[in-house]
Amino acid sequence: MGYANLLFDVRDGIGYLTVNRPEKLNALNRQAIEEVGACFWRIGHDSGVKAVIFTGAGEKAFVAGADIEELAALTPVEAQETSARGQSLLNFIENLGKPVIAAINGYALGGGCELALACTLRVASDTARLGLPEVKLGIIPGYGGTQRLPRLVGKGKALEMILTGEPVTAVEALRVGLVNQVVPQSDLIPAAESLARKIITNGPQALKFALQAVHHGGELPRTEGEFLEATLFGLAFATADMTEGTRAFLEKRPAKFAGK
Ligand code: COA
Repeated sequence: MGYANLLFDVRDGIGYLTVNRPEKLNALNRQAIEEVGACFWRIGHDSGVKAVIFTGAGEKAFVAGADIEELAALTPVEAQETSARGQSLLNFIENLGKPVIAAINGYALGGGCELALACTLRVASDTARLGLPEVKLGIIPGYGGTQRLPRLVGKGKALEMILTGEPVTAVEALRVGLVNQVVPQSDLIPAAESLARKIITNGPQALKFALQAVHHGGELPRTEGEFLEATLFGLAFATADMTEGTRAFLEKRPAKFAGK
């Protein structure tokens, strides 16, 4: 299936999804958002894709936000619907059940920063700039940024970023835990690949349960989160991956997980 605003390719179990509107700094218009949704839907249902690397075309931007030209023309009701649609897409990405690594190759602003926040992990080039500049436009973040950013970096830093609208450098993003790694631009995709490969040698079912325990458990009171953890821990014992993983360890050989 071809996309007007995306490139998508699968190599050795990794899906490479690239937003491809470099002339507009990969800003997400409505069609691009729909294509990102369709592509993730496809990835979610393809057991051949074990992890995803999400990036932007060109050297300047990951995604410079929602398309401001389109935003400017929305009615209040359309704006509410746009926000709700974006939120449900990002929730889908967050709950995909497989790791999604944002390879942040430049500006990750507004919806671009929110997209990166919905990814499992974030690797940034040293040229990256991350921010939520919506207040500069007289609006607020609408794709979950007011919710995910404080949970990731704490309320104080999140409010500083949201209220000033000023982006942070890659180094500052690393310092506050907004990204997991910073590498030179030329090493960005190899670094994301290396992280993805480390993760996907592990049991796919265990990865899915661990993601569920962290994402769903994180929204619950601690005792409920622990109850969920114990339940998923138990469920892991029903998988062929668990039988294979423990047997392989005892037989001193690498595990061959079937993802079942
Ligand atoms: N929506 C629509 N178009 C955008 C865009 C966005 N979010 N971000 C960049 N573009 C477009 C510019 O309008 C410009 O198009 P043009 O060449 O047809 O005029 C092109 O991308 C290049 O951007 P430009 O502003 O010329 O690049 P720059 O290097 O001078 O500045 C930024 C880069 C990222 C600082 C600047 O583009 C910017 O502030 N973008 C908006 C970021 C934002 O507010 N995002 C949140 C939206 S809710």
